[in-house]
Amino acid sequence: MDAATPEAGLPLCASHTLEEKGRAFLWDVRQYGRNEVAFVMRFEGQLRAYLNRCVHVPTQMDWQPGEFLDIEKRYILCTLHGAAYEPHSGRCIGGPCGRGRLTPVAVAERDGQVYWYPSRDIVPVPPLPVPEPPAPGGSAAPAAPESPP
Ligand code: FES
Repeated sequence: MDAATPEAGLPLCASHTLEEKGRAFLWDVRQYGRNEVAFVMRFEGQLRAYLNRCVHVPTQMDWQPGEFLDIEKRYILCTLHGAAYEPHSGRCIGGPCGRGRLTPVAVAERDGQVYWYPSRDIVPVPPLPVPEPPAPGGSAAPAAPESPP
């Protein structure tokens, strides 16, 4: 199986870059046709990955890129209004997120590499279209304006 297929997982980062309760790795995804950001962090030895979108208001939560944990490094915090989420489950445990929970993203690591697994709802961002090369014999220079008679 190809190592870069969605079934085999899409490579994100080297395992050693995710330090225990350290900065998360961020990457772009699409959910239901919308651009979103996902993140993966290491928490108590396990990888935890979610969409970077608060349940309260659909906004990104990190106070610096990839920094999600509170000062005691116990909960994922939303910087906007202070919603707190339990890192293992993504469940809201305090603040204005009610009974909601973060949207999980499937990740795994093997051979020192972290991979993510697209789902039916969360998929890779499609590549940007490549511009068409000029037609043979065509000119890239704009046509000169006609001079007045
Ligand atoms: S937007 Fe996250 S707590 Fe309000």
